[in-house]
Amino acid sequence: MNGFVSLDKIDFENISIDEYWNVGDQKEELIHKIHNYPAKFPAFITTKAIDYAKKQGINTNKIADIFCGCGTVALEAKKRGIKFWGCDINPVATLIAKVKSGNYDVLLLKRYRETLLEKLKSSNLEYDYSTANERIKYWFYEETFQKLSNLKTIILDECYINDNYKQFFLCAFSNILKPASKWLTKSIKPQVDPKKGQKDIFDLFSKQTEMMISAYEQAEINNKGKVTIETTSFLRPYLKRPKVDMIVTSPPYVTSYEYADLHQLSSLWLDFTKDYRELRQGTIGSVYHIEKSRIEDFKLNDIAKNIIEELQPKIEKSKLKSIARYFSDMQKVSKLAFNMLNNHGIALFVIGNTEYKGTKIDNAKHLAISLQNAGFKKFHITKRNITNKFLTPYRDSVGKFTSNKGSRKIYAEEFIVIGEKICQ
Ligand SMILES: C[S@@+](CC[C@H](N)C(=O)[O-])C[C@H]1O[C@@H](n2cnc3c(N)ncnc32)[C@H](O)[C@@H]1O
Repeated sequence: MNGFVSLDKIDFENISIDEYWNVGDQKEELIHKIHNYPAKFPAFITTKAIDYAKKQGINTNKIADIFCGCGTVALEAKKRGIKFWGCDINPVATLIAKVKSGNYDVLLLKRYRETLLEKLKSSNLEYDYSTANERIKYWFYEETFQKLSNLKTIILDECYINDNYKQFFLCAFSNILKPASKWLTKSIKPQVDPKKGQKDIFDLFSKQTEMMISAYEQAEINNKGKVTIETTSFLRPYLKRPKVDMIVTSPPYVTSYEYADLHQLSSLWLDFTKDYRELRQGTIGSVYHIEKSRIEDFKLNDIAKNIIEELQPKIEKSKLKSIARYFSDMQKVSKLAFNMLNNHGIALFVIGNTEYKGTKIDNAKHLAISLQNAGFKKFHITKRNITNKFLTPYRDSVGKFTSNKGSRKIYAEEFIVIGEKICQ
C-alpha cells in the first residue's frame, strides 16, 4: 500500500508480504547479541529503513528510536556515523543499549576482566541471605546468591574502573542472572524450573565477558555517530524530544509482554527497584498501567472503539481499561512522533496484530489511523514475515502465549508502517 490514500478503507490483511523487509543482506553482528532482550527486532530493519529513506530523497542525519529497547537502532545508527536519540522506560533496556553503543578500549576491557575474575576467585564475603529481597530469594539458591553478591560488590568497588566500564561489566552480570537462577531456561515468561541445578558463576561471568569483549573487537564502533539514550517514558510531560529526520521503532502491542516482569532479575540485582512491579507503571501495553482513568475518558478513534466494544462482554473491566489506555497512549505517541520530525521526515513502525479472547486486535491499522490523524500524509505499508524474533507465534485457546505448535499461530507476520510528514 503506497501513497496518499485514506487508510480506513484498506483491509490490512490483504497487504502482501514485501521481501525487501524480510531478510538482511548480512549476518547480524555478535554485538547485537551481548544481552538477551525478548522483544529485540532484527538489526537489518534499520539498514533497510535508511536505504528506503535515501531512495525517497531523504538525507538521514539524525535518527530516533522512541522505544529503543536494547539499542538495536542506536547501534546501527552509530555504525553509520548518524546521530541517535532514543528512550525506553525499562532501565534494563537502556543499560544494554548504552553499553552496546558505548565507546570502550578493548585492551582496557581485557585488563579489567582479568582483575575482576582474579578477585572473584578469592573473594568469599558472607552476605545475609535471610534479609535479602524476597523475590531474589525466590529465584536464587543461597550459594548462588552469595557468589553473585560477591561479584556485584567486586564490580562496584573496583576503584580503577570508571563508571562507563562498570556499566559494561554490570551488563555482563545482568545477562548471567537468568541462567544462574531457577528461571525455566526455555521460557521468556517468569517460571521456576524445580529441576534446574546450580551454575558456576565464575564460569558464566568469564564466558559472558569474553563474548562481549570479542563482540566489541569485531564491531569497531568506537567514536562514530553520537548516541544519546534516556531512561524515561516517551510520553513523559515536558520531555525534551529532539528534531530528527527519521524515527525507526517497534512499539509495544496490546496484551503482549509485561516488560517489568520479564526483566525482574536484573532490575532487582542492579537496584533499579526493590519491587519490580513498580516498573510496570507507565509501560505502554501493560495490563497494570491503568491508574485512575475511566474508559469513557479516553478519546479513542473508531478502530479502538470497535475493539473495546467487542471485548467489553468478554473481559474484566480492569483489563478493558488497560486496552483502552494502550490505544489512547499510541494515539499520543503518534502526535509526539509527528512533532519530532523535520519536514519530509519519516516514521517507521514495526508492529504486529494480536488476538485476545477471540477478538482480533488490529494494532497495525489502529497505529496507521492514529498517525494519519496526527498529521502524517503519505504512507507506505507492507508486511514482513517474522523470522528471527525470540517470540512464540502460538497462542492457546484463551489467547495466552504457548510453545505448543498445535495451537493457533497468530504472529507469523508483522507490519511495516511508514508515514511521511509533509508540511506545505
Ligand atoms: C518491542 S520493544 C522494542 C525493542 C527494540 N526495537 C529492540 O530491538 O530492542 C518495545 C519497548 O517499549 C518500551 N516501552 C514501553 N512503554 C514505554 C514508554 N511509555 N516509554 C518508552 N518506552 C516504553 C519497552 O520497555 C520495550 O523495550
